[in-house]
Amino acid sequence: MKLCNNLVRTLFFLAANAKFAVAQEPNDGPDDGPDDDDAPPSIDFQDLLPEPTTLWSTQLFPDVELGSVAVEAGNGIFMAPDGKHAIVTTVGATVYAFNAYNGGDPTWVYQAPSIDSSIARSHSSVTFAPSGDYMVYAVVDNENSLDPSSRVIALDMDGNELWVSDDLDGVASGSPQVSSDGAYVFITHNADDKSNGYFTTIDANVTAGSTFYSGSSGENGDEPTNAYGPVGIFHNPTEGNYDPIESGDPVSEGDFNTNDMLMFAQTPKPSDAVISNGFLYGFQFPRDFVGNASEVDYFQMGTFERDFQTLTKPVMTNNGLSAYWGVSRSGFRGWAPKRFSRARSNTVGFTRNEDSPGQPVWACPALSNDGPEPTIFGGSAAKEFVRMSYDFTEQLIVPTSGYVKTTAIVDGDERAVYYVESETGTLHQAGFDDLTDLWSFAVNFSVDGEMAITPRSDVVLVADTRGVITALQVAEIPTTEAPSMMPSDGPSMDPTGPPAVTTSAPTALATTGAPVAEPTTEAPVASPVSEPVASPVMAPVAGTEEPPTPSGAAQSTTFIVVILAGSIMMLLL
Ligand SMILES: *[C@@H]1O[C@H](CO)[C@@H](O)[C@H](O)[C@H]1NC(C)=O
Ligand SMILES: *[C@@H]1O[C@H](CO)[C@@H](O)[C@H](O)[C@H]1NC(C)=O
Ligand SMILES: *[C@@H]1O[C@H](CO)[C@@H](O)[C@H](O)[C@H]1NC(C)=O
Repeated sequence: MKLCNNLVRTLFFLAANAKFAVAQEPNDGPDDGPDDDDAPPSIDFQDLLPEPTTLWSTQLFPDVELGSVAVEAGNGIFMAPDGKHAIVTTVGATVYAFNAYNGGDPTWVYQAPSIDSSIARSHSSVTFAPSGDYMVYAVVDNENSLDPSSRVIALDMDGNELWVSDDLDGVASGSPQVSSDGAYVFITHNADDKSNGYFTTIDANVTAGSTFYSGSSGENGDEPTNAYGPVGIFHNPTEGNYDPIESGDPVSEGDFNTNDMLMFAQTPKPSDAVISNGFLYGFQFPRDFVGNASEVDYFQMGTFERDFQTLTKPVMTNNGLSAYWGVSRSGFRGWAPKRFSRARSNTVGFTRNEDSPGQPVWACPALSNDGPEPTIFGGSAAKEFVRMSYDFTEQLIVPTSGYVKTTAIVDGDERAVYYVESETGTLHQAGFDDLTDLWSFAVNFSVDGEMAITPRSDVVLVADTRGVITALQVAEIPTTEAPSMMPSDGPSMDPTGPPAVTTSAPTALATTGAPVAEPTTEAPVASPVSEPVASPVMAPVAGTEEPPTPSGAAQSTTFIVVILAGSIMMLLL
């Protein structure tokens, strides 16, 4: 298999004239706050185009040596830290690198080796180490068997395999995360028919892929066991923003602790007929951590159940002191800022999903910036796209013709927001302030994978579920910069003109439709136990949950503004 990989890679190297430069500058992912001391060079954003033009487009080429080219939920396109390469993951566990500005042929391709003669699959993004020198993604082996397992694979920036982790029990939940120093990789995964959640830390440095620490719901004595959603990370927070893990301890393990903060929530199990309440969990290396695995443990965040579960990781921001989450029943929650171990400071529920009222929001919310008061965008679990102020007191809702299942993208200059309707593949560029369409673009096929944008916010990349990648120029691309400022194979300044558009008509591929909602129907009788309104030592107060959902009549208007009386609630909290 290794031989085949090398052969495949060699072929692509021959086909591609570009070499993938290793990133020199550390560059943080979208999860990160201003934890990067060397501030990024300020970008001179160019004018938005009145309508997009297709810079390049390509159909991932089905190959007997590679997995399925379908780009499904959890997969997608991700900009590499060099600001130039777009990395694509597919459900067939293949990773491709393209030049975002003049792609067409992949710069390289990597195929996860199979084990037990089963084809590896992936529902993961790639996550880049903050140092910018490697990336990880998760694959699942024997996924449809009784005993699936997962692996995390690390690649260098040229697509060479660095290490493959030990086998992890069950199915990887979302995507792995990488510590700020690159020495550890974190992932949640669910075994026993996706009902028993694990949190695992992998040693990425000394032993390159072996399990450093692993704990599970079963080992914690949970009966029944809880399943875990994807884990989110904030690199080098001001401190771990939670109360003492042992209630009553004078000092929180998070106080003065600037180690990376990780957080995840309970996620529905396949056997769940309804989505009940769920717990939150956290992880942080101790303040004085010196690499002793016996001293680390993940912990339950607060002593009480929340009125939600989630399909996604949280987004932490504001130096690690605030967090936002898309949750069950078409809801969002915010700690803005507040101790994560306590009840959220902000809550909202939008129109419920018509087929499955408990349906969680599908994607992580998109934040306009990493300050204390970001604007928040995302699809709800109904056919609508929403914009919220940092404290949810201002809400703007636009009806859509399909569900929005992937994370929105905010223009770097806060002029626009991009979102795609999953079933139809209609990509919108909407005004940042009022969400009115500036333009829309028909991808003409369903889009369930994540989209990407270049750091200069001039090219948006989208992959549809049959593996067609489209790069849209959405702003002027500067051609007057000194060559040294340009990526070596960045936007072409070749006098022969812009790169050829290489749209290839996809051959008839078997394509399954958008996946049906998770089993998330609600028990009409199950009245949610509410979160305590103050510190977790207080008894929970019933009946404070679930703000009124906007009426369905709102769907007929272009958009509506809802100013919630929730601000009063906030004051009380
Ligand atoms: C990686 O391992 C080496 C050798 O054990 C050690 O010296 C170094 O500090 C480690 N790097 C990090 C980031 O922990
Ligand atoms: C790690 O912790 C264990 C248990 O407390 C202890 O026996 C061991 O000496 C520690 N190792 C290091 C390197 O500190
Ligand atoms: C989508 O379909 C419309 C109508 O058939 C067509 O005009 C348009 O070019 C298509 N878009 C793409 C990206 O193929």
